[in-house]
Amino acid sequence: MKPKAYIASKVSSEVKEYLDQHCECEYWQGAEAITGAQLAERLADAEGLLVSGNAISERLLGSAPKLRVVSNVSVGYNNNDLNAMRSRGIIGTHTPYVLDDTVADLTLALMLAAARRVTELHNLVRSGGWQRGIGPSLFGVDVHHAKLGIIGMGRIGEMVAKRAKFGFDMDVSYYNRNRKPEAEQKLGLSYLPLNELLAQSDFVVLLAPLTPETKRMIGAEQFTLMKPTAAFINVSRGENVDEAALVEALRSGTIRAAALDVYEKEPVSVDNPLLQLDNVVTLPHIGSATAATRNRMAMLAAENLVEALYGREPKYVIPELKA
Ligand code: DGY
Repeated sequence: MKPKAYIASKVSSEVKEYLDQHCECEYWQGAEAITGAQLAERLADAEGLLVSGNAISERLLGSAPKLRVVSNVSVGYNNNDLNAMRSRGIIGTHTPYVLDDTVADLTLALMLAAARRVTELHNLVRSGGWQRGIGPSLFGVDVHHAKLGIIGMGRIGEMVAKRAKFGFDMDVSYYNRNRKPEAEQKLGLSYLPLNELLAQSDFVVLLAPLTPETKRMIGAEQFTLMKPTAAFINVSRGENVDEAALVEALRSGTIRAAALDVYEKEPVSVDNPLLQLDNVVTLPHIGSATAATRNRMAMLAAENLVEALYGREPKYVIPELKA
């Protein structure tokens, strides 16, 4: 008999065909993403769960007595209660590597948008505000040859550094828990302590994963260290930043601009003050959201799920849950 799996994330027909070959699957059919409550109602018989973004909490696991595997369609797994999963012996997997280039592309898009005020000027044109040539008050800043500071030098950090260095001839430094001598040599990066990186960079890009150590690692104190001309780009997790302090830094001119793919609370509310500021570019957490990459992630998540359900070692077990 095939193991039972609940597929809470939308998948392509190719991924569905693969899943159906190996599991008895039930699929979420709603047009919107499934909520936690809806998910909890559907897990009574599931041995496997393929999911994207929902909280995997003690409470949710309580409604899933037969669950053996949670396969996340994401590289980040901060939404998984690892202790709860560990104590129930649940295998957790994720999808690293396949999205690195795509997230790096988006990071560059955000940096360019913040530098050249792309969304602000897009809105100006659309609203009929383009009467003649724009004046200095709407000029941007150069990306080429500027100083880029990357916080978090994992695989995506390296991809961003490569694009910045070889595409835009930027002067790239990084801060990371551990130094990466190989990346330093290969990409010509310099390592800086966090405070120095903040003080020297024209663009600060945050790519560190959300962990208890990185939570709110950027707040009022860190913004004060940054140049008043600097732009802050966050493609990691919103909870790594004190969002109220970011709003204040942008309002007061402590920093020049921000470009964000992630927020403390997602989806971001229309009342969030960040959405009222012209010097902020906002995107709806789309780091990996190209059709090709999301399909690769879904296929990898499906393979992880099947391998684990059949008692084999899946390719990408969440590192903290490895035996
Ligand atoms: C992930 O997979 O964790 C990323 O946030 C996707 O954008």
